[in-house]
Amino acid sequence: MSVLPATEQKAAYVNQMFGGIAEQYDLMNRLMTFGQDRRWREMLVHAAVVPEGGRLLDIATGTGDIAFEALRQTPGVRVVAADFSLPMMQVGKAKPDSQQVGWLGADTFTLPFEDDVFDAVTSGFLLRNVPDVVEALREQRRVVRPGGHVVCLETSPPPDNLLRPAIEMHLRYVIPTVGTLVSGSSYAYDYLPQSSKAFMTPEELAGAFRVAGLRLVRFKQLMFGTVAIHVGVK
Ligand SMILES: C[S@@+](CC[C@H](N)C(=O)[O-])C[C@H]1O[C@@H](n2cnc3c(N)ncnc32)[C@H](O)[C@@H]1O
Repeated sequence: MSVLPATEQKAAYVNQMFGGIAEQYDLMNRLMTFGQDRRWREMLVHAAVVPEGGRLLDIATGTGDIAFEALRQTPGVRVVAADFSLPMMQVGKAKPDSQQVGWLGADTFTLPFEDDVFDAVTSGFLLRNVPDVVEALREQRRVVRPGGHVVCLETSPPPDNLLRPAIEMHLRYVIPTVGTLVSGSSYAYDYLPQSSKAFMTPEELAGAFRVAGLRLVRFKQLMFGTVAIHVGVK
């Protein structure tokens, strides 16, 4: 049964869903990705090429792991971690070093910043959840300085390769079962595989980056093609 919301209901649905699983979110990430998600965030931050003392916006920061990774990698970086789910950010605020991050309640479509403010904008697992990917990217591009980077980490639909049956099993049975056991929410972990399958391919997402006005767009596929990091330059 489909648990995907209609486009106009997506924001409220997604906000409520993440509010409900905030406490278990990090643990589920580790379990679902076999611990690989940390390495992906490392690569994402690396691709953002923020200079020492530079400014980074991590939008849809959730529990803040990308923001914390930026602090670890980039000396003196000033990180704003923004999300529209306050319960997710509350979990992040309880982590060590959280005082070094500027936490902000904000919607990705209306970022409360002037143009050209940040050296880079990162997002992890946001774009699959928004009603309009190009508009979200346009708004990220707006707040990045010319020459700065917009970088995202996102799941991809299962690729057509030999591993597809195993990937389908993982999506259809393992994630919903483990997700329900750990978080107590069955619909959040039905939503995740269904929204991944329905999302753009990496090539299509690269096209959306270009339509949003980003150039030198490239992407790297990870975990047998089920996850990708996309980079574009303003
Ligand atoms: C799957 S979590 C990702 C959290 C974190 N980036 C990570 O890598 O683990 C998706 C996050 O996107 C946030 N989100 C979804 N739509 C948003 C929007 N329109 N504006 C701001 N945040 C949004 C949700 O509240 C949630 O915290």
